[in-house]
Amino acid sequence: MASVQMASAAGAERPIYAKVSHVIPELEWGVHAPYVRAINEIKRRKNAVILAHNYMTPEIFHCVADFVGDSLQLAREAAKTQANTIVQAGVHFMAETAKILSPQKTVLIPDPRAGCSLAASITPADVRLLKERFPGIPVVTYVNTSAAVKAESDVCCTSSNAAAVVEDIARERGVNTVIMIPDEYLAQNVSRQTAVKILSWKGRCEVHERFSAADIRAYREANPGIFVLAHPECPPEVIAEADFAGSTSAMIGYVGRHRPARVVMVTECSMSDNVAVEFPDVEFVRPCNLCPHMKRITLPGILHALETMTVEVTVDPAITARARASVERMLAVGVPKRSLLAA
Ligand code: 13P
Ligand code: SF4
Repeated sequence: MASVQMASAAGAERPIYAKVSHVIPELEWGVHAPYVRAINEIKRRKNAVILAHNYMTPEIFHCVADFVGDSLQLAREAAKTQANTIVQAGVHFMAETAKILSPQKTVLIPDPRAGCSLAASITPADVRLLKERFPGIPVVTYVNTSAAVKAESDVCCTSSNAAAVVEDIARERGVNTVIMIPDEYLAQNVSRQTAVKILSWKGRCEVHERFSAADIRAYREANPGIFVLAHPECPPEVIAEADFAGSTSAMIGYVGRHRPARVVMVTECSMSDNVAVEFPDVEFVRPCNLCPHMKRITLPGILHALETMTVEVTVDPAITARARASVERMLAVGVPKRSLLAA
Protein backbone atom coordinates (compact mmCIF):
# COMPACT_ATOMS: atom_id res chain seq x y z
CA MET A 1 0.00 0.00 0.00
CA ALA A 2 1.77 3.13 -1.28
CA SER A 3 0.75 5.55 1.45
CA VAL A 4 1.92 3.33 4.29
CA GLN A 5 5.60 3.88 5.08
CA MET A 6 6.72 1.48 7.74
CA ALA A 7 10.14 2.95 8.65
CA SER A 8 9.48 6.26 10.37
CA ALA A 9 5.81 6.24 11.25
CA ALA A 10 6.05 4.28 14.49
CA GLY A 11 8.34 7.00 15.89
CA ALA A 12 6.36 9.97 14.57
CA GLU A 13 3.15 8.62 16.11
CA ARG A 14 4.70 8.27 19.61
CA PRO A 15 2.46 10.92 21.25
CA ILE A 16 -0.63 9.01 20.12
CA TYR A 17 0.90 5.75 21.33
CA ALA A 18 1.49 7.19 24.80
CA LYS A 19 -2.30 7.24 25.24
CA VAL A 20 -2.91 3.60 24.35
CA SER A 21 0.37 2.05 25.50
CA HIS A 22 -1.16 0.02 28.30
CA VAL A 23 -3.71 -1.69 26.03
CA ILE A 24 -1.61 -2.03 22.82
CA PRO A 25 1.75 -3.84 23.09
CA GLU A 26 4.78 -2.03 21.61
CA LEU A 27 5.30 -4.73 18.99
CA GLU A 28 1.72 -4.43 17.78
CA TRP A 29 2.01 -0.63 17.65
CA GLY A 30 4.77 -1.00 15.06
CA VAL A 31 2.15 -2.48 12.75
CA HIS A 32 -0.58 0.09 13.53
CA ALA A 33 1.47 3.30 13.52
CA PRO A 34 1.97 3.66 9.72
CA TYR A 35 -1.76 3.20 9.19
CA VAL A 36 -2.61 5.69 11.92
CA ARG A 37 -0.41 8.31 10.28
CA ALA A 38 -1.68 7.62 6.75
CA ILE A 39 -5.35 7.67 7.81
CA ASN A 40 -5.02 10.89 9.79
CA GLU A 41 -3.32 12.54 6.83
CA ILE A 42 -5.76 11.38 4.13
CA LYS A 43 -8.88 12.20 6.11
CA ARG A 44 -7.69 15.80 6.55
CA ARG A 45 -6.88 16.05 2.85
CA LYS A 46 -10.27 14.68 1.80
CA ASN A 47 -12.33 16.50 4.46
CA ALA A 48 -13.56 13.20 5.87
CA VAL A 49 -14.57 12.27 9.41
CA ILE A 50 -14.41 8.86 11.01
CA LEU A 51 -17.36 8.00 13.25
CA ALA A 52 -16.35 5.07 15.45
CA HIS A 53 -18.58 2.94 17.61
CA ASN A 54 -17.52 2.12 21.19
CA TYR A 55 -16.81 -1.49 20.09
CA MET A 56 -13.99 -0.52 17.73
CA THR A 57 -10.53 -1.70 18.72
CA PRO A 58 -8.37 0.85 20.61
CA GLU A 59 -6.14 1.70 17.64
CA ILE A 60 -9.27 2.84 15.76
CA PHE A 61 -11.18 4.26 18.73
CA HIS A 62 -8.31 6.29 20.23
CA CYS A 63 -5.97 6.87 17.28
CA VAL A 64 -7.97 7.75 14.14
CA ALA A 65 -11.61 8.40 15.15
CA ASP A 66 -12.99 11.94 15.06
CA PHE A 67 -16.14 11.05 16.98
CA VAL A 68 -16.81 8.03 19.16
CA GLY A 69 -19.97 6.92 20.86
CA ASP A 70 -23.00 4.68 21.05
CA SER A 71 -25.51 4.32 18.21
CA LEU A 72 -27.46 7.43 19.22
CA GLN A 73 -24.39 9.66 19.54
CA LEU A 74 -23.05 8.50 16.17
CA ALA A 75 -26.42 9.19 14.52
CA ARG A 76 -26.45 12.70 16.02
CA GLU A 77 -22.92 13.35 14.80
CA ALA A 78 -23.75 12.08 11.31
CA ALA A 79 -26.65 14.54 11.17
CA LYS A 80 -24.54 17.57 12.02
CA THR A 81 -21.04 16.98 10.59
CA GLN A 82 -19.70 19.56 8.12
CA ALA A 83 -17.36 17.03 6.47
CA ASN A 84 -17.93 15.90 2.85
CA THR A 85 -17.31 12.25 3.65
CA ILE A 86 -18.25 10.06 6.60
CA VAL A 87 -16.33 6.84 7.19
CA GLN A 88 -18.40 4.61 9.43
CA ALA A 89 -16.18 2.57 11.70
CA GLY A 90 -19.05 0.38 12.83
CA VAL A 91 -21.58 -1.96 11.27
CA HIS A 92 -23.71 -1.54 8.16
CA PHE A 93 -26.93 -0.37 9.85
CA MET A 94 -24.93 2.49 11.44
CA ALA A 95 -23.60 3.53 8.03
CA GLU A 96 -27.13 3.44 6.60
CA THR A 97 -28.35 5.60 9.48
CA ALA A 98 -25.59 8.10 8.70
CA LYS A 99 -26.64 8.13 5.02
CA ILE A 100 -30.32 8.55 5.92
CA LEU A 101 -29.48 11.59 8.06
CA SER A 102 -26.92 13.06 5.65
CA PRO A 103 -28.09 11.93 2.17
CA GLN A 104 -25.99 14.59 0.41
CA LYS A 105 -22.75 13.27 1.91
CA THR A 106 -20.59 10.37 0.83
CA VAL A 107 -20.82 7.62 3.44
CA LEU A 108 -18.20 4.87 3.28
CA ILE A 109 -18.03 1.58 5.12
CA PRO A 110 -14.64 -0.17 5.13
CA ASP A 111 -16.27 -3.62 4.95
CA PRO A 112 -19.91 -3.89 3.80
CA ARG A 113 -20.10 -7.42 5.23
CA ALA A 114 -20.12 -5.90 8.74
CA GLY A 115 -23.70 -6.87 9.54
CA CYS A 116 -25.62 -7.51 12.76
CA SER A 117 -27.64 -10.54 13.90
CA LEU A 118 -30.45 -8.24 15.00
CA ALA A 119 -30.64 -6.42 11.66
CA ALA A 120 -30.62 -9.80 9.88
CA SER A 121 -33.54 -11.10 11.98
CA ILE A 122 -36.31 -9.04 10.37
CA THR A 123 -37.37 -7.86 6.90
CA PRO A 124 -39.69 -5.04 5.73
CA ALA A 125 -42.25 -7.72 4.74
CA ASP A 126 -42.21 -9.02 8.34
CA VAL A 127 -42.99 -5.52 9.62
CA ARG A 128 -45.85 -5.11 7.11
CA LEU A 129 -47.32 -8.41 8.33
CA LEU A 130 -47.05 -7.29 11.97
CA LYS A 131 -48.86 -4.04 11.12
CA GLU A 132 -51.61 -6.00 9.36
CA ARG A 133 -51.97 -8.30 12.34
CA PHE A 134 -51.96 -5.49 14.95
CA PRO A 135 -53.63 -2.50 13.23
CA GLY A 136 -53.24 0.82 15.03
CA ILE A 137 -50.38 -0.42 17.24
CA PRO A 138 -47.27 1.72 16.67
CA VAL A 139 -44.01 0.05 15.69
CA VAL A 140 -40.90 1.04 17.66
CA THR A 141 -37.80 -0.15 15.82
CA TYR A 142 -34.34 -0.55 17.31
CA VAL A 143 -31.74 1.21 15.15
CA ASN A 144 -30.03 -2.17 14.68
CA THR A 145 -32.15 -2.76 11.55
CA SER A 146 -31.96 -2.07 7.83
CA ALA A 147 -33.10 1.27 6.37
CA ALA A 148 -35.98 -0.57 4.68
CA VAL A 149 -37.23 -1.88 8.05
CA LYS A 150 -36.90 1.61 9.57
CA ALA A 151 -39.00 2.92 6.68
CA GLU A 152 -41.91 0.64 7.71
CA SER A 153 -41.74 1.86 11.33
CA ASP A 154 -43.32 4.68 13.31
CA VAL A 155 -40.22 5.57 15.30
CA CYS A 156 -36.72 4.27 15.98
CA CYS A 157 -34.98 3.84 19.33
CA THR A 158 -31.54 2.93 20.63
CA SER A 159 -30.53 1.25 23.86
CA SER A 160 -30.11 4.68 25.47
CA ASN A 161 -33.65 5.97 24.86
CA ALA A 162 -35.86 2.92 24.27
CA ALA A 163 -38.17 3.32 27.30
CA ALA A 164 -38.60 7.06 26.67
CA VAL A 165 -39.42 6.44 22.98
CA VAL A 166 -41.97 3.73 23.87
CA GLU A 167 -43.73 6.06 26.32
CA ASP A 168 -43.60 9.01 23.95
CA ILE A 169 -45.21 7.20 21.00
CA ALA A 170 -47.81 5.48 23.22
CA ARG A 171 -48.79 8.88 24.67
CA GLU A 172 -48.92 10.54 21.25
CA ARG A 173 -51.07 7.78 19.69
CA GLY A 174 -53.24 7.36 22.81
CA VAL A 175 -52.51 3.61 23.09
CA ASN A 176 -51.14 1.41 25.85
CA THR A 177 -49.47 -1.20 23.64
CA VAL A 178 -46.57 -0.91 21.19
CA ILE A 179 -44.73 -3.35 18.95
CA MET A 180 -40.98 -3.28 19.62
CA ILE A 181 -38.69 -4.93 17.07
CA PRO A 182 -36.45 -6.82 16.61
CA ASP A 183 -34.60 -7.41 19.93
CA GLU A 184 -36.58 -9.73 22.16
CA TYR A 185 -34.36 -9.13 25.20
CA LEU A 186 -34.26 -5.35 24.84
CA ALA A 187 -38.07 -5.41 24.61
CA GLN A 188 -38.32 -7.53 27.77
CA ASN A 189 -35.86 -5.30 29.63
CA VAL A 190 -37.68 -2.13 28.57
CA SER A 191 -41.06 -3.58 29.56
CA ARG A 192 -39.79 -3.63 33.16
CA GLN A 193 -39.35 0.15 32.92
CA THR A 194 -42.74 1.17 31.64
CA ALA A 195 -46.45 0.47 32.08
CA VAL A 196 -46.83 0.34 28.27
CA LYS A 197 -47.41 -3.23 27.04
CA ILE A 198 -44.74 -4.35 24.58
CA LEU A 199 -45.16 -6.94 21.82
CA SER A 200 -41.76 -8.21 20.74
CA TRP A 201 -39.98 -10.05 17.92
CA LYS A 202 -37.59 -12.99 18.23
CA GLY A 203 -34.35 -11.24 17.24
CA ARG A 204 -31.26 -11.47 19.40
CA CYS A 205 -27.76 -10.05 19.52
CA GLU A 206 -25.41 -12.96 19.00
CA VAL A 207 -22.87 -11.36 21.34
CA HIS A 208 -25.08 -10.47 24.32
CA GLU A 209 -27.36 -13.51 24.25
CA ARG A 210 -24.37 -15.65 25.28
CA PHE A 211 -24.09 -14.08 28.75
CA SER A 212 -26.00 -15.83 31.56
CA ALA A 213 -26.93 -15.07 35.17
CA ALA A 214 -24.51 -17.85 36.18
CA ASP A 215 -21.70 -15.91 34.43
CA ILE A 216 -22.46 -12.82 36.52
CA ARG A 217 -22.48 -14.84 39.74
CA ALA A 218 -19.16 -16.41 38.74
CA TYR A 219 -17.59 -12.96 38.12
CA ARG A 220 -18.74 -11.84 41.57
CA GLU A 221 -17.44 -14.98 43.25
CA ALA A 222 -14.04 -14.73 41.56
CA ASN A 223 -13.77 -10.95 42.10
CA PRO A 224 -15.31 -9.88 45.42
CA GLY A 225 -16.67 -6.32 45.37
CA ILE A 226 -16.74 -6.14 41.58
CA PHE A 227 -19.21 -3.75 39.95
CA VAL A 228 -21.24 -5.31 37.12
CA LEU A 229 -22.41 -3.20 34.16
CA ALA A 230 -24.49 -4.88 31.44
CA HIS A 231 -25.85 -3.91 28.04
CA PRO A 232 -29.68 -4.11 27.69
CA GLU A 233 -29.34 -6.54 24.75
CA CYS A 234 -28.44 -9.15 27.43
CA PRO A 235 -31.11 -11.58 28.66
CA PRO A 236 -33.30 -10.16 31.47
CA GLU A 237 -31.80 -12.65 33.96
CA VAL A 238 -28.40 -11.02 33.34
CA ILE A 239 -29.79 -7.50 33.79
CA ALA A 240 -31.43 -8.62 37.04
CA GLU A 241 -28.00 -9.66 38.38
CA ALA A 242 -26.21 -6.49 37.24
CA ASP A 243 -25.58 -3.28 39.22
CA PHE A 244 -26.19 -1.02 36.21
CA ALA A 245 -27.58 -1.48 32.71
CA GLY A 246 -27.39 0.99 29.87
CA SER A 247 -26.12 1.72 26.39
CA THR A 248 -22.39 1.40 25.68
CA SER A 249 -21.92 5.13 26.34
CA ALA A 250 -24.12 5.03 29.45
CA MET A 251 -21.79 2.34 30.82
CA ILE A 252 -18.73 4.48 30.07
CA GLY A 253 -20.42 7.49 31.67
CA TYR A 254 -21.20 5.46 34.77
CA VAL A 255 -17.58 4.37 35.20
CA GLY A 256 -16.41 7.97 34.71
CA ARG A 257 -18.81 9.35 37.32
CA HIS A 258 -18.47 6.65 39.99
CA ARG A 259 -14.96 5.24 39.42
CA PRO A 260 -15.67 1.83 40.96
CA ALA A 261 -12.38 0.12 41.93
CA ARG A 262 -13.17 -3.02 39.92
CA VAL A 263 -15.56 -3.38 37.03
CA VAL A 264 -16.83 -5.96 34.59
CA MET A 265 -18.57 -4.73 31.43
CA VAL A 266 -20.95 -7.42 30.23
CA THR A 267 -20.75 -6.56 26.55
CA GLU A 268 -18.39 -6.72 23.57
CA CYS A 269 -14.63 -7.21 24.21
CA SER A 270 -13.21 -3.93 22.98
CA MET A 271 -15.28 -1.77 25.33
CA SER A 272 -13.11 -2.54 28.35
CA ASP A 273 -9.89 -1.81 26.45
CA ASN A 274 -11.23 1.54 25.28
CA VAL A 275 -12.53 2.56 28.69
CA ALA A 276 -9.38 1.36 30.48
CA VAL A 277 -7.42 3.92 28.44
CA GLU A 278 -9.58 6.72 29.90
CA PHE A 279 -9.64 5.41 33.46
CA PRO A 280 -6.32 3.74 34.33
CA ASP A 281 -7.26 3.79 38.04
CA VAL A 282 -10.16 1.35 37.43
CA GLU A 283 -9.43 -2.38 37.22
CA PHE A 284 -11.35 -4.12 34.44
CA VAL A 285 -12.16 -7.82 34.53
CA ARG A 286 -12.54 -8.75 30.87
CA PRO A 287 -14.81 -11.58 29.83
CA CYS A 288 -14.60 -11.66 26.08
CA ASN A 289 -17.54 -11.99 23.70
CA LEU A 290 -16.42 -10.69 20.34
CA CYS A 291 -18.75 -9.16 17.73
CA PRO A 292 -17.43 -10.67 14.48
CA HIS A 293 -19.17 -7.93 12.48
CA MET A 294 -17.61 -5.02 14.34
CA LYS A 295 -14.23 -6.73 14.10
CA ARG A 296 -14.35 -6.62 10.28
CA ILE A 297 -13.43 -2.94 10.58
CA THR A 298 -9.64 -2.54 10.69
CA LEU A 299 -7.06 0.20 10.12
CA PRO A 300 -6.02 -1.20 6.70
CA GLY A 301 -9.71 -1.36 5.76
CA ILE A 302 -10.29 2.27 6.79
CA LEU A 303 -7.26 3.44 4.84
CA HIS A 304 -8.36 1.50 1.77
CA ALA A 305 -11.85 3.02 2.05
CA LEU A 306 -10.42 6.54 2.09
CA GLU A 307 -7.92 5.91 -0.70
CA THR A 308 -10.46 4.36 -3.06
CA MET A 309 -13.59 6.13 -1.72
CA THR A 310 -15.28 2.73 -1.41
CA VAL A 311 -17.50 1.06 -0.37
CA GLU A 312 -20.10 3.78 -0.71
CA VAL A 313 -23.32 3.19 1.22
CA THR A 314 -26.47 4.09 -0.69
CA VAL A 315 -30.11 4.06 0.35
CA ASP A 316 -33.01 4.26 -2.11
CA PRO A 317 -34.36 7.86 -1.86
CA ALA A 318 -37.94 6.59 -1.38
CA ILE A 319 -36.78 4.50 1.59
CA THR A 320 -34.60 7.36 2.90
CA ALA A 321 -37.53 9.74 3.23
CA ARG A 322 -39.63 7.30 5.29
CA ALA A 323 -36.73 5.92 7.36
CA ARG A 324 -35.54 9.44 8.10
CA ALA A 325 -38.92 10.33 9.61
CA SER A 326 -38.57 7.40 12.06
CA VAL A 327 -34.98 8.29 12.98
CA GLU A 328 -35.70 12.02 13.34
CA ARG A 329 -38.67 11.29 15.54
CA MET A 330 -36.33 9.34 17.80
CA LEU A 331 -33.75 12.16 17.82
CA ALA A 332 -36.49 14.56 18.91
CA VAL A 333 -37.22 12.39 21.98
CA GLY A 334 -33.58 12.66 23.12
CA VAL A 335 -31.85 10.78 25.93
CA PRO A 336 -33.62 10.46 29.25
CA LYS A 337 -31.72 11.04 32.51
CA ARG A 338 -32.62 7.65 33.97
CA SER A 339 -31.12 4.48 32.64
CA LEU A 340 -32.58 1.01 32.49
CA LEU A 341 -31.25 0.05 35.89
CA ALA A 342 -29.17 2.47 37.85
CA ALA A 343 -27.50 1.67 41.17
P1 13P B 1 -25.22 1.01 21.69
O1 13P B 1 -26.18 1.91 21.01
O2 13P B 1 -25.48 0.84 23.16
O3 13P B 1 -23.81 1.45 21.44
O4 13P B 1 -25.37 -0.46 21.10
C1 13P B 1 -25.11 -0.79 19.77
C2 13P B 1 -24.85 -2.21 19.61
O5 13P B 1 -24.77 -2.72 18.52
C3 13P B 1 -24.70 -2.98 20.83
O6 13P B 1 -24.53 -4.30 20.54
FE1 SF4 C 1 -25.29 -6.49 16.28
FE2 SF4 C 1 -24.72 -7.58 18.62
FE3 SF4 C 1 -22.73 -6.98 16.96
FE4 SF4 C 1 -24.10 -5.01 18.20
S1 SF4 C 1 -22.79 -6.56 19.15
S2 SF4 C 1 -23.55 -5.11 16.03
S3 SF4 C 1 -26.15 -5.92 18.25
S4 SF4 C 1 -24.37 -8.51 16.60
